[in-house]
Amino acid sequence: MSSPTSAIPQDGTADARAGAGLFVAFEGGDGAGKSTQVRLLAQAFEAAGREVLLTRQPGGTELGTQIRDLVLHGDHVCPRAEALLFAADKAHHVDQLIRPALAAGAVVITDRYTDSSVAYQGAGRDLGADEVHQLQMWAVGDLVPDLTVIVDITAAEGRRRRGGTHDRLESEADAYHEAVRAHFLAMAQGHPERYLVVDGTLTPDRIHAEVHRACTVRGWLPL
Ligand code: TYD
Repeated sequence: MSSPTSAIPQDGTADARAGAGLFVAFEGGDGAGKSTQVRLLAQAFEAAGREVLLTRQPGGTELGTQIRDLVLHGDHVCPRAEALLFAADKAHHVDQLIRPALAAGAVVITDRYTDSSVAYQGAGRDLGADEVHQLQMWAVGDLVPDLTVIVDITAAEGRRRRGGTHDRLESEADAYHEAVRAHFLAMAQGHPERYLVVDGTLTPDRIHAEVHRACTVRGWLPL
């Protein structure tokens, strides 16, 4: 397992983009319940009158959908190729969807972003978190979310929730998923100002309330 990455820019947001948009990413283990939270937060911003782009990675674009199929449902992919495929998805995704939406002033909410790669490929696959982080930052042109929400669950709880269905990453052993989880938590600990860690075993409503509060204290949503 690699040590937590130290190379995360302190503030990549200001210079890496133009426009009045807001960028929120959800991260966490498989089965953490991110998709529900992404949807609830999108509804909250829409209710506040904001334009919202809701997306997920890998996927979201035509190329991304093909990469998603290759990397999640295809045959064996060697770790470096896996890291490059996830990076290619992000590069295209940011260029085609995320930057234009931010430039137009929208709120972009993504189900997974660069931290997934740092945790799953960097820490989980032992490719080196710093190296994978650099690759990811190159791919996305240093675009860092304004807020990253980590929905935290243990590997065992994730496995229990997933039941019998597993894609290529999900079928990895619990030790792999625990390494991924530990790395998410370490990244959040290193940059508490732009991370929120929520307990994924709380009810969806409780989790959403915590995320909502984090957005109101930042002045992004009304009380
Ligand atoms: P998905 O079905 O979207 O899972 P979830 O609903 O849990 O987000 O599958 C995405 C899988 O891809 C998940 O196991 C994490 C993995 N992944 C990476 O390994 N690296 C990445 O950069 C990204 C975006 C995802």
